[in-house]
Amino acid sequence: MCQNVGAVADSVPHLLLVDDETALRQVTAERLAERGFEVVQADSGEQALEFIEQFAFDLLITDLRLPGIDGTQVIDAARARYPAIIGIVITGYGTVRDAVEAIKKGASDFVAKPFHFDELIHVVRKAMEQRQLRSENAYLRAQLEQRYQFGDILGRSRAMQALFQVLETVARSPSTILVTGETGTGKDLVAKAIHHNSPRKPHRFVALNCSAIPETLLEAELFGHVRGAFTGAVGSRQGRFEQAHKGTLFLDEVGTMSQGLQMKLLRALQEREFERVGDNQTIKVDVRVIAATNSELPKMVANGSFREDLYYRLNVIPITLPPLRERREDIPLLVKHFLGKFAASEGTELSQEAMRALMAFAWPGNVRQLENAVERAVTLSGGRRQIDLADLPSEVVAAPPATARPFVDFPAQGLDLPEYMSALERDVIHMALERTGGNKNKASELLRIKRTTLVEKLKRLEGLQH
Ligand SMILES: Nc1ncnc2c1ncn2[C@@H]1O[C@H](COP(=O)(O)OP(=O)(O)O)[C@@H](O)[C@H]1O
Ligand SMILES: [Mg+2]
Repeated sequence: MCQNVGAVADSVPHLLLVDDETALRQVTAERLAERGFEVVQADSGEQALEFIEQFAFDLLITDLRLPGIDGTQVIDAARARYPAIIGIVITGYGTVRDAVEAIKKGASDFVAKPFHFDELIHVVRKAMEQRQLRSENAYLRAQLEQRYQFGDILGRSRAMQALFQVLETVARSPSTILVTGETGTGKDLVAKAIHHNSPRKPHRFVALNCSAIPETLLEAELFGHVRGAFTGAVGSRQGRFEQAHKGTLFLDEVGTMSQGLQMKLLRALQEREFERVGDNQTIKVDVRVIAATNSELPKMVANGSFREDLYYRLNVIPITLPPLRERREDIPLLVKHFLGKFAASEGTELSQEAMRALMAFAWPGNVRQLENAVERAVTLSGGRRQIDLADLPSEVVAAPPATARPFVDFPAQGLDLPEYMSALERDVIHMALERTGGNKNKASELLRIKRTTLVEKLKRLEGLQH
């Protein structure tokens, strides 16, 4: 690890360790101290908050489940006060989801109980290295290029940025994942990206679209069959589960499966074993399953068309892909990417008018539909350097222009509406002022309010900020 040469006097990393299990906490603290950390222990979230008030720790390691104030709240409070603090959470058995939530909220990483000390130290070192790198310019530059991409998935919206972080974390775990999203939102891409960033990467990624195969053949497709198992089964064959051994099995459109198969899939997921069709020999496999659906499984569970137990088996880690119309700020990035993919000449561009139309459209077919529209436009433009409105599909052009609508990421834990509206108002006013070079007269015109109202609002909102 890079050592910061300048900081001599206080280069010892200060660490706050929060856990209500005294024995474990003490042992961990001692071992961390042996490795050169200055450790302070807290046995509750309340006590941790007190320490955080008084001292700028470099690192915070906290158990997620604490009797009162929990680990997530401790990390929240610490990060609010010290944005550069490294927060690591310790999770109990079966709470990977909580860890995912914590990471969405800004924790750097997690370890699951029971853990080896080496594992913890590894996670700590890694987080420290990342923090160190982050403050180095070279890394910042590289990040500028990289951070809008994970695998082949592009996105700069907050929702996609948060998704990338979650993907990085869940890729390492072996848990089953359920990817939900409308058609064309990138479910396939997500499944592949998870596999390629997981320890299973050297093994196969096997995909099966459950809706594309007739019901009668699907079982054989999943689990394989032996010779003569059904009419036309001339030889024995491996199913997708076997093919994916040690790798990843991607079950697309899992909501279309019949009840009978749902039952068999449940067993395969639970026991990691099954039989080929027509055979009674049990086969065991080690497969990570990623399922995807564009149907609302909870509704199907409610109306009895999808097994509840299977739903919970699949939905260990839920990942939801937002529709493109809820992250329109990703559109320019995607368009640029697709232009590069389809345009014969480099530097083919879109007129601003055409870009506005693309950004205003609702894209029911999401990224797939956008990709098709760009491909078509490139073809129609016949090598012109600029793509115009006329090159776009008629439904895109005909759509009513969108009024500027804010991009709202609605956090799972909800939000404080008045506070949120104030922040939004402040942002919009700042945008108007930026647009007009700070001219309050012009800004108030753009915002259709009186100049005096603008000035008043500015005063109030700036006051709120501090
Ligand atoms: N975020 C994204 N960045 C780049 N390409 C994307 C993105 N999302 C979707 N695509 C492209 O859109 C098409 C549809 O994506 P896909 O993963 O098949 O969607 P789904 O499985 O949800 O229907 C693919 O060609 C894919 O490469
Ligand atoms: Mg798909």
